[in-house]
Amino acid sequence: MAKILVTGGCGYIGSHTIVDLLENGFDVISLDDFSRSTNTALEGIEKITGKKVKNYAVDLKNFDDTQAVFQEHTDIDGIIHFAAYKAVGESVQEPLRYYENNMFGLINLLKCVQEFGVPHFVFSSSCTVYGNPDAIPVTEATPTKKAESPYGATKQMGEEILKDFTNATATNTILLRYFNPVGAHPSIYIGELPVGKPQNLVPAITQTAIGKLPKMWVHGTDYDTRDGSCIRDYIHVSDIAHAHTLAVQYLLAEKNETTCDIFNLGTGDGVSVLEAIHSFETVSGVKLNYETGPRRAGDVVAIYANNDAAVKKLGWNIQYGLKEMMDTAWKWELSLKEKENI
Ligand code: WQD
Repeated sequence: MAKILVTGGCGYIGSHTIVDLLENGFDVISLDDFSRSTNTALEGIEKITGKKVKNYAVDLKNFDDTQAVFQEHTDIDGIIHFAAYKAVGESVQEPLRYYENNMFGLINLLKCVQEFGVPHFVFSSSCTVYGNPDAIPVTEATPTKKAESPYGATKQMGEEILKDFTNATATNTILLRYFNPVGAHPSIYIGELPVGKPQNLVPAITQTAIGKLPKMWVHGTDYDTRDGSCIRDYIHVSDIAHAHTLAVQYLLAEKNETTCDIFNLGTGDGVSVLEAIHSFETVSGVKLNYETGPRRAGDVVAIYANNDAAVKKLGWNIQYGLKEMMDTAWKWELSLKEKENI
C-alpha cells in the first residue's frame, strides 16, 4: 500500500483529498500546523472513511521538525503539498508573511524530499498563474503572466522551483492548477472553514444566506462579459480531490511524459458571479441579499479551463455540476449553524 504525506491535510482541499486517497487504498499521513485549520477535519475524515489519520502539527518553516517526520517515515512514496497561505487580499497587505511561509515551507519540504529520496511530488498550484489571460479557455500552454498578488507570485515561484528541482533530482512532479474550488463532501462531514470574513464568492454567498453576514457585494457589474460580472470556472472540491489521487496513480505508474507535468483542474464552463448567485437561490430557495458595488482590485475579468489534458491523461471524469456545488455548500453552512446551536 503506497504511503502518501499530505501537507495541509486538515485544510479544505487537503481533507477532501485525504478522504479520496483512503477510499482508493492509500496509506496517508497528514502534516498541518493548524495555522489556518483545525483538527475537526480529522474527525470528519474518520466519520466518512472509518480510518484515523495521524497528523503531525509541524510548521514547515521549522526544518528540524519537518525532517523528524521523514526520519519517522522513511517509506513515503509521494507527497501532496497543500500547506500554504492563500488569501489574495491578505497577501497584498502582508507580502513578506506570504513569501516567508509559502516559499520557506516549500524549500524545507523539498530539502527533505531530496534527503530521503521521495520519488513523487504533487504541487497545489492555481489558475492565478495565468493572470488576466488574452484568450479563454486557457490550456496548460497558455503563457503565465505577472501575478496579480504576492499569493499568485508564490504559486508561480513554486512552479519554477519545482521545475528546476525535478531537473536536478530523481523526483517527478505534477503541478495541478486549480480553478475555483467550491462545495463540500456529499456527507457534509467536511467542508470549507474560512478564517474570518470570507473573501471567496461561495462562502460569502452561504454566510449571507444564513445570516452570518447582513449582505454581500457583487464586485463590479460593468465588465465586458455577458452580464457585466466576472466569469470563473467553479469546480467541486471532491472532483479536485479525486484528481489528486489520479495524479499520484499516474506518477506511480510512471505514465508522466516529463519530470514536471502540468494539469488544469476546472470544469471548462465559465460561470458569472450573478449566474452563481442565481444558481444558489434556485438550489437553496433562499433569496440572497446582495448589492452591486465597485470592482475588486486584482480581479481577473474572465477565466475558465481547457481541461482536456487532465481528462485524457489522468482519466479525470468530473462528477459534480454547479447545482451540486451550491447544494453541498449550502448544506455545509446549515450544518455549521446547527453545530453552533448545540
Ligand atoms: C470570484 C469572483 C470576485 C466575493 C480565488 C483565489 C485564487 C484561486 C481561485 C486557489 C470574483 C467575486 C467574491 C464576494 C464577489 N484559489 N466576489 N463578492 O478571486 O477568482 O480566486 O479562487 O487556488 O487563488 O483567490 O475567487 O471567490 O474570491 O472571487 O463579487 O463577496 O467573485 O470579485 O469576481 P478568485 P473569489
